[in-house]
Amino acid sequence: MKHLHFEEIPSTQTIAIEEAHHYDQLLVSAKRQTSARGRRHNKWEDLQHSLCFSCKLEAQEKPTLLALEVAVMLSNYFNEHKLLLKWPNDIFNEESQKIMGILVNKDDDNYIVGIGINYGGLPHETYGVLKPEKELSDIDFKELPLEIYHYFLNNRLTEEEIINQWNERCYHLNKEVKIIDEDSVIEGIFKGIGSFGEALIEVQGKIEKAYTGSLIIK
Ligand code: BTN
Repeated sequence: MKHLHFEEIPSTQTIAIEEAHHYDQLLVSAKRQTSARGRRHNKWEDLQHSLCFSCKLEAQEKPTLLALEVAVMLSNYFNEHKLLLKWPNDIFNEESQKIMGILVNKDDDNYIVGIGINYGGLPHETYGVLKPEKELSDIDFKELPLEIYHYFLNNRLTEEEIINQWNERCYHLNKEVKIIDEDSVIEGIFKGIGSFGEALIEVQGKIEKAYTGSLIIK
């Protein structure tokens, strides 16, 4: 396993994508990112005591499950906190604040998972933090991502476990939601995820499926 750690780089995701074909198992972590990437071309804001890392993971037979599996594994890893999952791949605290974001990129046959965790420091106006007031040391910035990556490698989930555990921890199960994609909007009741990780939305008594998009809880 290769672990590359940096004091400051533009994005761990960019480096991990470039390096992925050299290693079967790769972790890239940094203390700070200057140009972090978010989902759907959004930027990700690195807070002072947040963790940021990117790692290579083998995809499931259904690659669309990978981001959901990582969300479930993170909620298992941090099981002393009650973390809630928002479709497709955000993690919230009980105060309805986002505290982790997950991004998956595919390059050739390599899957790179980028994770941002608002770990410590002061709560932000819009984001929560996992352990308020906790200050991360230089060693933490390097060692915590390594511990989490080892946890991932040793605790992969089956398809059934991903779907069941994801649905159990869903933040908006049976709530009214709106899923907005490039050229479609689905509004209805969120009924969980299907076998590909797609959102199942009940609209006038029928189930509609959304494979991509942003979810708004109404
Ligand atoms: C999201 O939009 O919610 C996903 C955010 C993912 C951010 C992480 S931080 C580590 C890795 N490097 C990046 O540039 N982005 C991801």
